[in-house]
Amino acid sequence: MEKKKYYITTPIYYPSANFHIGHCYTTVIADAIARFKKLQGYDVFFLTGSDEHGLKIQKKAEDAGVTPKEYVDKIISDAKDLWKQLDIEYDKFIRTTDDYHVETVQKIFKKLYDQGDIYKGEYKGLYCTPCESFWTESQLVDGKCPDCGREVNMVSEEAYFFRLSKYQDRLVDYIESHPEFIQPVSRKNEMINNFIKPGLEDLCVSRTTFDWGIPVTFDSKHVVYVWIDALSNYISALGYLSEDDSLFKKFWPADLHIVGKEIVRFHTIIWPALLMALDLPLPKQIFGHGWLVINGGKISKSLGNYRDPREYIKEYGVDAIRYYLLREVPFGSDGTFSEDLLVTRYNTDLANTVGNLVNRTLSMLNKYFDGVIENSPIETDYDRDLISLVISTKDKVENYMDNLQIPEALDAIFEIFRRCNKYIDETTPWVLAKEEDKEPLKNVLYNLLESIRIGAILLKPFLMNTSKEILRQLNTDMTDYETISEFGQLEVSKKINDFKPIFMRIEKKDEQE
Ligand code: MSP
Repeated sequence: MEKKKYYITTPIYYPSANFHIGHCYTTVIADAIARFKKLQGYDVFFLTGSDEHGLKIQKKAEDAGVTPKEYVDKIISDAKDLWKQLDIEYDKFIRTTDDYHVETVQKIFKKLYDQGDIYKGEYKGLYCTPCESFWTESQLVDGKCPDCGREVNMVSEEAYFFRLSKYQDRLVDYIESHPEFIQPVSRKNEMINNFIKPGLEDLCVSRTTFDWGIPVTFDSKHVVYVWIDALSNYISALGYLSEDDSLFKKFWPADLHIVGKEIVRFHTIIWPALLMALDLPLPKQIFGHGWLVINGGKISKSLGNYRDPREYIKEYGVDAIRYYLLREVPFGSDGTFSEDLLVTRYNTDLANTVGNLVNRTLSMLNKYFDGVIENSPIETDYDRDLISLVISTKDKVENYMDNLQIPEALDAIFEIFRRCNKYIDETTPWVLAKEEDKEPLKNVLYNLLESIRIGAILLKPFLMNTSKEILRQLNTDMTDYETISEFGQLEVSKKINDFKPIFMRIEKKDEQE
């Protein structure tokens, strides 16, 4: 049977500054969703990349005394290193400076121009000459350029425009008849009521005031401006309008574009209108997530309120960072990032709930049965209760993941580990160990080990290292997703591997003091 396809994307990132934990948030979430779909047997394509053109980059490169390409190359290689350290398993990393992307954007621009969806007009705006930037009235600070504080002048510039206004009614119809298209629902209402219904204006899609961009083939003083360049990445990455468009045929339309809340507007208005103009199907869903904030405010380099994510990874381990990002913030809402909360989560969930459980259980197996797994299925009420919870978790997690309730999915997995800890208290294996009949003790330890195995397999897409290490310690070959539908698959008469605690409790800095 042919596998079901799943195409998921992150936004492509501006390489204008160092990446921070907020960028990691979007990418880790997309990665966990992609891995979960892979685990379920989908044929997944996970795309991420970088959005490299524009005046800002051109200027930063000038300041650094290098070419824009040299400037972005360095940041991109750094970003790829960060994604590697975060265990991000993308299928493709697209750069908007890649030749194939440039060609596709040029073809799209020409096609839209030829069919009359792009036309030449005049862009009027408030212009700051030293900064070479256009501003809107509301962006000005005391009537002056928000960047340098100097006077701005009303100027007009020849530019190409995309007929966005033409698609207004079709867009509203589409969004209203496809309730799953924009999620969460609050963002959908905001788009319709605040942006589309008040009226869409045609969109300026070229610039002549800088040249670090994709040239318009039929009018060389223009470069393509921002959104056609950036948004097209989702189809150029698949080979749209290129010689080999097999990936495009296979994966388009996308199942999910994950984006931060501030760019939902571009993805739910400009992008669908462009696709309509290209006569292509629309993505199935755009999910706008909230922001990670620090001390209630923006994560900002100038405020110096964050560390390089790699430092956190080094200090706490990659799984702890992924766990925090995936577990702490209800997906769709804003959430806080703080090392204090990170340490609390680490200690309570990772060190106490999972780490301690695994270590305690394996230690008991070592002590009472020389590390050899045995079973003696006796069904007590405690057993039935534990087993029914463990077996029902797969469906619960799948359900949560289908609705992109990621913290809830993780919590359901952790419920297995919490239930196991309770089961130890209920069955008191150290008391059973004193009895001559060792069968009840075998039964209890087997149920614990099997529950841990199932929990570890479910953890794979989220905390790969933890999952791998638990399964290694258990010395089991039953590691596939298919093996968790039925309780009792863990092999018997096998000796577990060497083990040590997976997570050591972290003493909080103030506790140390
Ligand atoms: N280049 C555009 C996207 C074009 S997509 C066709 C862009 N780039 S960005 O680098 O500024 O942001 C990339 C993503 O990171 C966005 O989804 C943004 O919301 C996300 N985040 C940046 N800071 C963030 C937080 N503090 N918290 C969560 N996400 C954040 O926009």
